[in-house]
Amino acid sequence: MCGIVAYIGQKEAYPILIKGLKRLEYRGYDSAGIALLDQGELKIYKKQGKVAILEEFAADKNCEGKVGIGHTRWATHGLPNDTNSHPHFSENKDIALIHNGIIENYNVLKEELEHRGHKFISETDTEVLVHLIDDIRKREKVSLAEAVRMALLSVTGAYAIVVISKDNPNQLVAARKSSPLVVGIGKENEYYLASDATPIVEYTKQVVYLNDEEIAVVDLNEGFKIVHLSNQEKTPYVQQLEMNLEALEKGGFEHFMLKEIFEQPRSIHDCFRGRLNVEQGWVSLGGLKEYEQKLVNAERIVMVACGTSWHACLVGEYLIEDLARINVEVEYASEFRYRNPIIGEDDIVIAVSQSGETADTLAALELAKSKGATILGICNVVGSSISRITDAGSYTHAGPEIGVASTKAFTAQVTILTLLTLFLAHKKGTISQSAFQSMLCDLEAIPDQVKRILENDPKIKEISAIYKDVRNALYLGRGSSFPVALEGALKLKEISYIHAEGYPAAEMKHGPIALIDEEMPVVVIATKGTSYEKVVSNIQEVKARKGRIIAIVTEGDRQVKELADHVIEIPETNQYLVPLLATIPLQLLSYHISVMRGCNVDQPRNLAKSVTVE
Ligand code: M6R
Repeated sequence: MCGIVAYIGQKEAYPILIKGLKRLEYRGYDSAGIALLDQGELKIYKKQGKVAILEEFAADKNCEGKVGIGHTRWATHGLPNDTNSHPHFSENKDIALIHNGIIENYNVLKEELEHRGHKFISETDTEVLVHLIDDIRKREKVSLAEAVRMALLSVTGAYAIVVISKDNPNQLVAARKSSPLVVGIGKENEYYLASDATPIVEYTKQVVYLNDEEIAVVDLNEGFKIVHLSNQEKTPYVQQLEMNLEALEKGGFEHFMLKEIFEQPRSIHDCFRGRLNVEQGWVSLGGLKEYEQKLVNAERIVMVACGTSWHACLVGEYLIEDLARINVEVEYASEFRYRNPIIGEDDIVIAVSQSGETADTLAALELAKSKGATILGICNVVGSSISRITDAGSYTHAGPEIGVASTKAFTAQVTILTLLTLFLAHKKGTISQSAFQSMLCDLEAIPDQVKRILENDPKIKEISAIYKDVRNALYLGRGSSFPVALEGALKLKEISYIHAEGYPAAEMKHGPIALIDEEMPVVVIATKGTSYEKVVSNIQEVKARKGRIIAIVTEGDRQVKELADHVIEIPETNQYLVPLLATIPLQLLSYHISVMRGCNVDQPRNLAKSVTVE
């Protein structure tokens, strides 16, 4: 949601903060701001809009200081304007604070503080928190860290915060609950704090991921310590970051999204590397070892997720039910958490999430855990909250995904779910040895087949040019290609602002068919497989109403070619693996249309990469 970065040490803080904010901008880009402490003076510079606007604004200012905090905002409370931007000052401007999350009881706290004479200038919940910390510090005459702890005890909600104070020039205090925060331990008595490791990796690989309700105090004289909200001191668990800088750069591509689409041959391969062996005929997900038997014996599996990750779960549902014969229920995490679901100790709940931080998915897992279920995670971001609260899980190993529109994370999630299906089906004997073996072979061939689809990009770009000005689009698919249709429609909506709907192809005649006329492009996944002939009939129905068809077909297809206005061929594969291939042209189609419409591909309006608030 919002991005946090902070530095304290021997170097000038400003360049580190600005660079860090640029790396975190995918988390929110409504406004950006920094606070710097220099020779006893605490100064804040903040502007509505992107980090570049803040940089321009700060260009002629004296942005000096070896300690500072920075924030990039995705607005929740209050409009995205300069005043509501972070950092926020306390009453006498002694303390400044940045915050990611929501203080749910901010109104009650605000009223109490107003009674005590506090004046607020913004509409944010964050400003209330910094006033509260300052108020406690002065009233109780306690240290900054203790004031932060006491203030957080009266807060309901989610937060990752960093606090800087005039009176403690050698110290930063940070805390987290339900919003991520990482501490980087630098080489020369210096510390970095950030929402994720991306602003830190350039300087150090030694990191500590804070746990919920932990407060980190980094002090140039006294070092680094962690205290729990209950006032118990904790031993920091220092981890080695496995991330490289190149993964965070565009690497010659115009946009992160395009880079990430083109990375898929590698990311899919990385995802199954070491987890399958065609010669020896096995599949194994090491992270799930301890729960293998429970999974094999499961009567049902519940999957919770949001957005694109939810679409991946739907693909998983088709695969697991059909091949492993286990009942699967796929739930929107946001609905699941509030509808008193029937979950018990025998249930396995799997959360799928790129970021591993999505608030609804986390809450759904917590609920399932409280009801005694086994909770598993499929995440991309190593060390993320979901990966830490789950009993076990599998990382997708897709590498950092910076573009807000999820691409390589989706195909990696589908790859993991395919591996899980194959593992379960093999163990349960619900797949024949020859079908298992041939699917392993086909899965191993997917990265090269994705490469071949990517070579077709110029043709997809030409088709995009024809449809770039449409106002609506329909995406149709059957079986496991139905979630692919949903995903294709979501990609188009979120980055090009064209209204698009995904439908099971056969459902079209129950309503959406009324929308079809010569203006309406209909993207159909019509690859070879059990429902091919039925999809061909659906295409006929669209043609009869003068709809324009863009069909994703299997190489060499002739029947659909005759009906469709455009065809995009994908290599032949096992029908269960089609989602891994059919998704690629849809990603490219959305990408090109978005660029041609002049939209901000990597940072679409109103969106943020990880949704850490409800
Ligand atoms: O990080 P997560 O996978 O949990 O995120 C879930 C959704 O917010 C995410 O997939 C969102 O729908 C993307 N913008 C889709 O491109």
